[in-house]
Amino acid sequence: MTATQPSTPLRIVTCGSVDDGKSTLLGRLLYDTQHVFEDQLEVAEEESRRWGTQARELDLALLVDGLQAEREQKITIDVAYRYFSTANRSFIVADAPGHEQYTCNMATGASTASLALLLVDARNGVVDQTRRHTCILELLAIRHIVVAVNKMDLVGWTESAFEAISCDYLDYTSSLNFESVTTIPVSALDGDNISDTSENSKWYMGPTLIQALESAHVEGSQRKEPFRMPVQWINRPTPDFRGYSGTIASGEVRVGDEVVGCLSGITARVSSLMNADQEVASAIAGNAVTLQLDEHMELGRGDVIATSKARPEVSDQFATKLIWLGAEPMLPQRQYWMKIGTQTTSVRVLTLDYVIDISTLAHEASTKLELNQIARVKISVAKSVVFEPFHVNTNLGSFILMDRITNETVGAGMIEFSLRRASNIPWQPFQVDKVQRGRSLGQKPCILWFTGLSGAGKSTIAGCLEEELVRRGCHCYILDGDNIRHGLSKDLGFTDADRVANIKRVAEVAKLFLDAGLITIVCLISPFRNERLMARELVEPSEFIEVFVDTPLDVCEARDPKGLYKKARSGDLINFTGVDSPYESPLNPEIVLKTDKSSQDQLAKEVIAFLDTNHYLAS
Ligand code: ADX
Repeated sequence: MTATQPSTPLRIVTCGSVDDGKSTLLGRLLYDTQHVFEDQLEVAEEESRRWGTQARELDLALLVDGLQAEREQKITIDVAYRYFSTANRSFIVADAPGHEQYTCNMATGASTASLALLLVDARNGVVDQTRRHTCILELLAIRHIVVAVNKMDLVGWTESAFEAISCDYLDYTSSLNFESVTTIPVSALDGDNISDTSENSKWYMGPTLIQALESAHVEGSQRKEPFRMPVQWINRPTPDFRGYSGTIASGEVRVGDEVVGCLSGITARVSSLMNADQEVASAIAGNAVTLQLDEHMELGRGDVIATSKARPEVSDQFATKLIWLGAEPMLPQRQYWMKIGTQTTSVRVLTLDYVIDISTLAHEASTKLELNQIARVKISVAKSVVFEPFHVNTNLGSFILMDRITNETVGAGMIEFSLRRASNIPWQPFQVDKVQRGRSLGQKPCILWFTGLSGAGKSTIAGCLEEELVRRGCHCYILDGDNIRHGLSKDLGFTDADRVANIKRVAEVAKLFLDAGLITIVCLISPFRNERLMARELVEPSEFIEVFVDTPLDVCEARDPKGLYKKARSGDLINFTGVDSPYESPLNPEIVLKTDKSSQDQLAKEVIAFLDTNHYLAS
């Protein structure tokens, strides 16, 4: 067997379900390639007696120096990297866990790999988790798969069992974009077909696992691709030194090359290059470098420096694949943080085109995306980002999404292409602006965003407030939840996804009314912190006033002006806020109104007092 790239380690990601024997297989690979040291063996023997699952024999799984928790809970909970080599090739293995809730780690491990080693338990065959992992591998542009059909000893080494699993898997992958899929019958525990051909499978003519890994023909590194470097920070140790630091995502750069700042479009030449404190003439993908340029370039963190000969794209709307990793479902129109390269911006899913059924690969319509589901979506980002389609450049084509309240990673995405919808529609400026409109109306326009439970008193107080404002000659309008749902949001119900869409629409309309110079009063339950934050961020900080109509649930329920609580309690009305749908109280509202302590008129006056004190109203 000849090695195709002896100098470059082959990066492998392992995946499979729990108990497929992944740790044992890895332990076996390390053991057979003699990457286990004497002292490790002693520890493993000792631990085999304590934790081992293989009676009193050496448990190879324990050679894999996983985390303590893995041993105690018998699961792998993070991605661990392991190294081994044969005479012909060296390997870096990202060991990704099998539990469903750790799909996130599996995707992390796969993001740098060229080949996947997928385990299937011969007794169970291809299961949902096998299909899910295969789907993710395809999305992450892994093109080579080696399937170890493990525990063949437990199915009596029957050829038909192996053939059935092979056919099943090859059938599943036939419509997916893999270059090679190799299936091998093995027993990791006994070492059959790992490094040596097994006597137990005389019917099997294919390679051993090690042979398959040694001969895998993967494409070269990202070195040959055009030069791209996301800027991590601007390095200014002294006033006359200005360096742009980052890790080269793809390609090569040399002193003298013409480069471009992708967001500004300004070009310059590289005048010096530092790689780990040393001046160098050139640097390649993976190097962490500092570039100096012959022209001053106004670049910030998040921009990308690229060769001027082949520039990456810049856009603010994309079609992407999305793997959902959050415990809470993804809701279209909700805002999340997006991290792509060194760029961070806020993002919304505009449409959920389809969810992929991982068993059949069929495309299914859905209004939300749940944990571990994979979908095709269209997204819109708050500011343009530099990117490349994922199949062109995995670094600039992949991103993660984070929850805006908890900062947890909730999704991983791969960009397919940009949508050019917005690029031909510039903002139309007019001679009269918001400030002038407000001035002509004798007020400083603002949005008073009333939030609270149904029956809290939002609309009643807003009515009193409007009356008083009009009496004072102000110009205002109430965007009331009930009324909005008679027209603009007539198509929406009360699921979380529909509420998010409703609040987004009303926030956009409120922004237009603000632009018109009006004091805009919004009365919406708006139960989610996330969407209230979204509404706040649509306008200037001083233009948004959050008014929490703080009425306890039991008081609202006792009032029950529309009889809806009664219906909700009897089960005639579902998804009712406070009953079977959540309400997240504001954390820092500008105004809190306690309706069980004061009358509606008094509360309206409190709002007026706030507006007076903060100079929204003409004196
Ligand atoms: S929001 O969640 O999208 O902000 P919205 O303010 O529009 O809710 O709700 C408008 C009105 O619909 C409420 O005041 C209430 O009277 C009525 N309603 C009908 N069904 C529900 C429900 N399931 N949950 C909450 N309110 C409901």
